[in-house]
Amino acid sequence: MEQIDIAVLGIGKMGETHVEAAKASPYVRKIYGYEPDKSRATERGRELEIETTSDLDVILDNPAIKFIDIAAPNAVHCELAIKALRAGKAVLCEKPMGETIEDAERLVAVAEETGGFLQLGFELRYSKAYVKLKEWVDNGKIGSPVNLHCRYFCSEFHHKDSWRSNSPGSLIGEKLSHYLDAQRWYMGSEVKEVYSLTAPNVVKYFNHPDNHQINTRFVNGSIATLNFVMYIAESDPSDPLLDVMEKQADDGHFLQLYIMGTEGAMEFDIFKRRLRRWQFSDGELGIESKIVETITYDKAEDTEQMHNVHGQNLRVIELVAKGLPPENPAKDSLMSMKLCFAAERSEKEQRAVSMTEYC
Ligand SMILES: NC(=O)c1ccc[n+]([C@@H]2O[C@H](COP(=O)([O-])OP(=O)(O)OC[C@H]3O[C@@H](n4cnc5c(N)ncnc54)[C@H](O)[C@@H]3O)[C@@H](O)[C@H]2O)c1
Repeated sequence: MEQIDIAVLGIGKMGETHVEAAKASPYVRKIYGYEPDKSRATERGRELEIETTSDLDVILDNPAIKFIDIAAPNAVHCELAIKALRAGKAVLCEKPMGETIEDAERLVAVAEETGGFLQLGFELRYSKAYVKLKEWVDNGKIGSPVNLHCRYFCSEFHHKDSWRSNSPGSLIGEKLSHYLDAQRWYMGSEVKEVYSLTAPNVVKYFNHPDNHQINTRFVNGSIATLNFVMYIAESDPSDPLLDVMEKQADDGHFLQLYIMGTEGAMEFDIFKRRLRRWQFSDGELGIESKIVETITYDKAEDTEQMHNVHGQNLRVIELVAKGLPPENPAKDSLMSMKLCFAAERSEKEQRAVSMTEYC
């Protein structure tokens, strides 16, 4: 089995998850970490028990490092990914693909020009519950999907003066890009237009809106809506979607996804740890609907079912070690990012934005 050396750029909270995945991969020989600040690099190296540096060139110039994993703040994603691709490394980059459409397009152009491996961290495509919904859609269990609803309410956990709160890049890229990418994945169609609304902020220290109502129309006529608010749920200092789900299930947190089709519907309710599927039939009095499948899972499976960064990384490392192409091509992820940027523009300009403006 071919083993590779890998480097994680940005070894904060998510970088640690990436390091842990690399430690668990049979395809990894050695793991390096990069932090621009020397003392932080040393401290994180000690905590994560990996070799670290604050000199990026040490990583880029090392021919044994074949794979670079980017978990740095959003503003530097594209800059780091472009450097890595130009140095001949395969790249897995956390979402979002930069904070501007220009950066995202530049990155994909460099991947095409260099022929390098580039995949974006849209981990829902590796999370078991979301994959199950995709299987149901692809197997025709709900007929043709026509209407998708996602309600996502959480607490404010980005905090005052953090890079997230100060970022001019909105929560659409930072958080909702996962769910907008999933819309395209499930509806199986490109986006025609997007109209997004935002109300005045409750969280005054954010440099961007704290709420979004994003409406998407697809080329095939289907529609989707994503409703996000980042303050209603009872406060939790940690990631609101892990560890304390039982408490959060009834304190204002919601993460629910419904997809309605011509012949049935399906639901994933994260706080109930439950997937359900309805089937429609032509009854004597009118359309009849019946719940025909319910899947529940245990707390121990939370991460794997709905936040499977670990599984995604194991798979992407394997692809790179075997010399295989990305499973989610960067060009496809760019289309999801265009939807994010179009939604931001829609809010700023208070109008529907056609995707023809992004082609
Ligand atoms: N896929 C997901 O579900 C998911 C979840 C959380 C975070 N993320 C993404 O992971 C990234 C990191 O998030 P986090 O929660 O770990 O943040 P964090 O603040 O905990 O970690 C970021 C790290 O990057 C370091 N850093 C700062 N400037 C840097 C630079 N120029 N180059 C390299 N490193 C630099 C910081 O010192 C810090 O250690 C973000 O892009 C975020 O969107 C993805």
